[in-house]
Amino acid sequence: MRHVVGTIDELPPGTRKLVTVGGRSIGIFNVDGELYAVRNLCPHQGAQLCAGELFGPLHSDGPGDYRYSAEQLMLRCPWHGWEFDLRTGRSWFDPEKTRVKRYEVTVGDGRREGPYVVETYPVESGPGREIVIDV
Ligand code: FES
Repeated sequence: MRHVVGTIDELPPGTRKLVTVGGRSIGIFNVDGELYAVRNLCPHQGAQLCAGELFGPLHSDGPGDYRYSAEQLMLRCPWHGWEFDLRTGRSWFDPEKTRVKRYEVTVGDGRREGPYVVETYPVESGPGREIVIDV
């Protein structure tokens, strides 16, 4: 289900924003105009992962050799330093098994599709005139 969580004006390049959708805290990152969204919950011990540092890793084939990787964007958990690829959600140390949930995020064209329908609940008036709602 799609949710509108704000406007792009609220998330300029280089910033991040936390939103809550369906009871889940999700971090949305704008990296040079590209948007990424991941769950704000570290799979290790539950830290707020999206408060962590965002960086590009260094690669090395041996002593004295190091290359900065701009293709990967890593998010480091602020508690114990587990690192996750922001684009895929995969962890650095065990990419097949340890991941953080990622979400598709897009910018709409400003036109909302409708009609929108609000969720409703049956309401009854009891004998003491109390109002009862079933959720
Ligand atoms: S809670 Fe994130 S690395 Fe431990």
